[in-house]
Amino acid sequence: MAALRIAVFASGNGSNFQAIADAVREGKLDASIELLVCDKPGAPVTERAQREGVETWLFTPKSYPSREAYEADILAELRRRNVELVVLAGYMRIITPVLVEPYYGRMINIHPSLLPAFPGIGGIRQALEYGVKITGVTVHFVDGGMDTGPIIAQRAVEVLDGDTEETLAERIHKAERELLPHVVQFIAEGRVELNGRHASIRQ
Ligand code: GAR
Repeated sequence: MAALRIAVFASGNGSNFQAIADAVREGKLDASIELLVCDKPGAPVTERAQREGVETWLFTPKSYPSREAYEADILAELRRRNVELVVLAGYMRIITPVLVEPYYGRMINIHPSLLPAFPGIGGIRQALEYGVKITGVTVHFVDGGMDTGPIIAQRAVEVLDGDTEETLAERIHKAERELLPHVVQFIAEGRVELNGRHASIRQ
């Protein structure tokens, strides 16, 4: 079976990008990263991409008249490269129907909480401030809402007494780095099914 052609969208550090790139290099993930899409010039993720030999499509949202306008350019780029799966990995922007519709069921996001709790920005801080004892990470399909799409997989992370945002984030990020490449591999194997709001992984 040919490797799944993926594009990763990221805005920041890129530890999830790295987890995918590592899994591909180690032969644990039957995928090829065709492109990094990044909206922040100088973001550390762009250096990671360069080290991994992955091309970056960098854009400045402010130089476009609208979200739809830059997403149309992104879509053209994804199509040109026959991208089969889009992975949002710390891409801190709302996605409009320009991208969601053509990629529905083929676009996933990782979020640092057990959705539907604590969506949006600062999922880790929100959980800590709320005082929950268990939080975690979620990988879900992207729909038109903010972190609302069908959930594919979740992993729980315990909140410990005395946790700070930094100590909790460390464990959350570790869980993310483990979960995300697994889910992408399940998709590469054609094992993830989507029926309405329900996503399942075939054994
Ligand atoms: C990750 O924790 C990811 O779950 C989060 O951004 C971080 C990016 O880290 N995404 C969101 O909060 C999306 N709502 P990374 O750049 O090191 O992969």
